[in-house]
Amino acid sequence: MDTVISRLDPGDFRDRLPEALGVYVDAMGYPTQVVRSRAPAWMEHSHREGWSCVAAFDPPRRRLIGHARGPLVGICYGYRGAPGQWWYEQVSRGLRDHDHHLPEDYVELTELHVAPAHQGRGLGTMLLTEFLSDRTEPMVLLSTPEVDDEANGAWRLYRSHGFTDVLRDYRFDGDARPFAVLGRPLPLPGARE
Ligand SMILES: CC(C)(COP(=O)(O)OP(=O)(O)OC[C@H]1O[C@@H](n2cnc3c(N)ncnc32)[C@H](O)[C@@H]1OP(=O)(O)O)[C@@H](O)C(=O)NCCC(=O)NCCS
Repeated sequence: MDTVISRLDPGDFRDRLPEALGVYVDAMGYPTQVVRSRAPAWMEHSHREGWSCVAAFDPPRRRLIGHARGPLVGICYGYRGAPGQWWYEQVSRGLRDHDHHLPEDYVELTELHVAPAHQGRGLGTMLLTEFLSDRTEPMVLLSTPEVDDEANGAWRLYRSHGFTDVLRDYRFDGDARPFAVLGRPLPLPGARE
């Protein structure tokens, strides 16, 4: 496979934002108008403490000097969870109802998406493991929509990497769908020290 996984700094991320959001709406099956509403939030995320990002790129269509990356076909980013963040406050509320609370130090895996035509070839696994490989937090948390029998690529990916239930059937404000919050300790087994 010629697809390469690379880290993006906030400047690269800004440059590639339209493509990354295109992958996101295609992968999630959202209408394309969602791109406009998510763009400012994704940009704001890239300035948060502990933000890091990896992306998958197809080979460039024309090999030009200085254009080592082709089209973006996968994106994964996250940042350090902290009080005051929308997701932190929402999940804290859900956990409080069960007499639990969020760990003090965790990384939120905020987004992970692979373009539909590229799914099932290991890119999601590579993005997830590369993203987590240099995190210093002892725990990663994420949320994903509930699906019957956990039967989709996201659930398969997270379960096969040892993610366990933190909250199930949770409703975030403004979204009618039930979500699961999943987590696991870090580092991943076999990760480089
Ligand atoms: C989740 C996602 C990023 C995984 O990317 P991917 O490149 O397909 O992942 P991989 O090829 O590494 O496969 C990961 C696992 O899912 C399985 N899988 C991949 N596509 C699948 C599909 N369409 N149906 C069922 N299982 C699938 C693989 O067999 C693999 O399972 P294994 O680890 O038990 O072998 C991708 O499916 C996606 O973008 N989904 C839509 C968006 C989404 O749900 N994002 C997560 C939101 S939290």
